[in-house]
Amino acid sequence: MRIAVIGSGYVGLVTGGCLASIGHEVVCTDSDEAKIDLLRKGKLPIFEPGLDTVVARAMHEGQLAFTVDVAAAVEASDVIFICVGTPPMENGDADLSAIDQVARLIGTVARSPKLVIEKSTVPAQTGQKLKQALRVYSRNAGPLLRVASNSEFLREGTAVEDFLHPERIVVGVDNESTAADLKEIYRPIIEQQFDCPLHDGRCHKTAMPEWLVTTINSAELIKHASNSFLALKISYANVLAELCEKLDANVDEVTRAVGLDPRIGPHFLKAGLGFGGFCLPKDVQAFLRMAERVGVDFGLLREVERINKQQINRMIEKIRHALWVIRGKRIGVLGLAFKPNTDDVRFSPAVELIRRLLLEGASVRAYDPAAMEKARAVLPNVELCENAYQAANGADALVIATEWADFRDLDWEKVHATMARQLVLDGRNLLQGEAMKSLGFEYVSFGRPDLAAETAVV
Ligand code: UGA
Repeated sequence: MRIAVIGSGYVGLVTGGCLASIGHEVVCTDSDEAKIDLLRKGKLPIFEPGLDTVVARAMHEGQLAFTVDVAAAVEASDVIFICVGTPPMENGDADLSAIDQVARLIGTVARSPKLVIEKSTVPAQTGQKLKQALRVYSRNAGPLLRVASNSEFLREGTAVEDFLHPERIVVGVDNESTAADLKEIYRPIIEQQFDCPLHDGRCHKTAMPEWLVTTINSAELIKHASNSFLALKISYANVLAELCEKLDANVDEVTRAVGLDPRIGPHFLKAGLGFGGFCLPKDVQAFLRMAERVGVDFGLLREVERINKQQINRMIEKIRHALWVIRGKRIGVLGLAFKPNTDDVRFSPAVELIRRLLLEGASVRAYDPAAMEKARAVLPNVELCENAYQAANGADALVIATEWADFRDLDWEKVHATMARQLVLDGRNLLQGEAMKSLGFEYVSFGRPDLAAETAVV
């Protein structure tokens, strides 16, 4: 199958790289020449575990190429995956201008039948608009251009694994032959029969993915419904944490027990600084806006957003409570990415927290294992350190803002020795309070008792 992927951002690259590695002939396109140049040289513009191996192997085997000539790639393909961005607009709606632009281009240049697949996250009924745009721009007399929706459920940091070994593949179609074509594209993954570039044939996942065929509207809705529900779970855990603080309970104990009920599940119940990134915050907003537009009151999601925004305030208050005065203090921040195993700082709670600390008059020194370069562009006034120890050195407080495993494994005795005040504020409940206390730290986290240092003089 000859596949064109339009948009070589994070979703496009994972989609293109993985489809090429299961045997398809793929061309990834992007209008950004510098990005395509970089990719052609075998370099990736993003950090995503395993993606470098996948892309390098597929390029080496001649299955994957890159071009800025979107029109030529479209014309030469049977299948087109639209993977362009749908960023939030001021009012919270998803900006669909990139999708519209691609639709006009496909409609204008296509000379042979094609299957056009929306992979970008879009509001329900976008597929209908896409169909209409394709029809109009091909002047109602063009070749058959079919449309399908195939939302991605990739998580940054484990996206390649998620693509090749998914729990489910959802396709939204309006006829059986489109569903059959999509099944053919995904057959190696559905049957888990491919030479896995990630695990060298020793894939640990044995369960077969669920293959779900729905209408296009349902498929589009499923994506927003999934991400919004995940956001809802996080905000629920964050309110639980606040309650635990007031009632002297421990949120980790509560969410662990609650999550053992299979009807609830253990995931996405981690309290802390809240959810960020380029998906959950914007998808909650877009879902809300869409509900408003069709006259459905989804106030539940407005609360999810409100609670999430409040988490940064709660952290600032914890810092103020511990430090008394923030102005003039030196604060080390560990973590800049919106979550571990990515260099993505878009809508990162860590970045937002740092901005607030700077406004409060603190001086901030920060470190992240992967996101330093991207953070430099958005936080010009922050001293970025070479490692976590440097960020902690001389600090009045050390804040954990992203739950990188590396931070759990630090030599905390060494950290202790260099800090001006041995105060750790754990915004991700990454560390064990008692262990920190016995090392001589004051330790503050979310929904768990604050601990004074074992050696502290009261
Ligand atoms: C999310 C979804 O999890 C994916 O299924 C979806 O495909 C993707 O969006 C997308 O729409 O493309 P991602 O944005 O990579 O994936 O990040 P998540 O793993 O969902 O984490 C989002 C945020 O929630 C992070 O800031 C994380 O730190 C926070 N989080 C997560 C919590 O605060 N508590 C938790 O228990 C879990």
